[in-house]
Amino acid sequence: MKITVIGSGYVGLIAALGFGIKNNKVICVDKDKEKIKSLKKGIPIIYEKGLDKYLKKCIEEKKITFSTDIKKGIRESNIIFIAVGTPALNNGDVDMTQVKEVINDISKYINEYKVIVNKSTVAIGTQKYIKRMLNDKGISNEYFDIVSNPEFLREGKAFDDFFNTDRIVIGYDSEIAKEIMGKLYKNFNKKIVYTNPETAELIKYASNGFLATKISFINEIANLCDEIGGNVEDISYVLGLDKRISPLFLNAGIGFGGSCFPKDTQALVKIGKKYGVAFNVIKSTIDVNNKQRIIPIKKLLNHYKDISGKIISVLGLTFKPGTDDIREAPAIYIINELIKNEAIVKCYDPNVSRKIKEIYPQIEYCNTPYDTFIDSSCAIFCTEWDEFSKLDLFKLKDKMKEPLIIDGRNIFDYKDVKKAKINYFAIGRGYIYK
Ligand code: UDX
Repeated sequence: MKITVIGSGYVGLIAALGFGIKNNKVICVDKDKEKIKSLKKGIPIIYEKGLDKYLKKCIEEKKITFSTDIKKGIRESNIIFIAVGTPALNNGDVDMTQVKEVINDISKYINEYKVIVNKSTVAIGTQKYIKRMLNDKGISNEYFDIVSNPEFLREGKAFDDFFNTDRIVIGYDSEIAKEIMGKLYKNFNKKIVYTNPETAELIKYASNGFLATKISFINEIANLCDEIGGNVEDISYVLGLDKRISPLFLNAGIGFGGSCFPKDTQALVKIGKKYGVAFNVIKSTIDVNNKQRIIPIKKLLNHYKDISGKIISVLGLTFKPGTDDIREAPAIYIINELIKNEAIVKCYDPNVSRKIKEIYPQIEYCNTPYDTFIDSSCAIFCTEWDEFSKLDLFKLKDKMKEPLIIDGRNIFDYKDVKKAKINYFAIGRGYIYK
């Protein structure tokens, strides 16, 4: 099938390449000339496992072309995916500016029937809103159908999630559009759930809200474990044995970050407010998370009282392993607090991005984890990168001024830390201190 994907950000690029790999002819359009120039040369613009491989394959097999020409993109395909950014506004609303710009372009260049598919996470009611917007611009209904097809992929596992998704959701209100979308996804051999557009739009929020709630729930259990001498990992394991709960997303730690959970939970509260639904559960999920991400600071100040002038190492700056994304990363909140408390921050991340160096030019970025430990009074681990669990704890201790680890992701085996005689605080492993 001929597909155009508008927006070459995370969701757009993965979808464009994914559909290319699935033997469709894809045009990926973005107004950012630099991005398109780079993609045309086969150079990835974001970090994602498998991206270079799939980009090269799609270009070589002529499954994808990259362009800044939106007119061409709209005219030459019969399915148009909208995958532009929908960031959160300061008031928690979804910023729909880029979606509106695309609809405006579609109204200018549409020449025959198209299925317009929304993949971005948008405000509820967007499908109807787009319809009205196109009608108001003089485009009659026989020229288009609007479908909502939310994306559930995770950073770091995006291609795997795209090809092996648990579910494909199609929100539709026209049988022709349903048939076309069914054909597009036929060779995925996955469960397709057809529903109305409003439900499809809400499903993404419900899914992310639920997963975020699971994390905040286990984090509160972890905090209680720290007080009573419990072991949250055993609790997560036992909870996970219950098929009704599932073992996933029950890892206690310093909270969730990223481009989705924080934004979508806030949006859900906002949507609830608009329609008179309190969403107290989601409000608490957000509240717990806000406190959870600076728990290492609480533990650190509890231990030292004053950290001004002390070197503190922060390891793992991204919001999770396998990405270079620092959006809403707990490490950012921790670094802010350390700076506020006049500590000297040294940090390390295997995927350190230019972005974080721009935000904090005053802190030291080390090339190895061991360099961060030199003269340090505490090592705070914020992300569970594989290489951290393989660190030589004796070597780590030798380099530190005062051997203290705050393990925000329960990376280390307590027996190893004990052998190395390092002071150690983790999340929900209260049995260690009691
Ligand atoms: C999430 C959803 O999983 C995905 O379906 C949606 O499309 C986008 O949002 P992503 O943000 O890429 O994906 O990351 P995810 O792997 O879900 O992790 C989100 C955050 O939760 C990370 O900060 C991670 O460290 C944290 N997390 C996850 C936990 O603290 N505990 C867990 O058990 C799982």
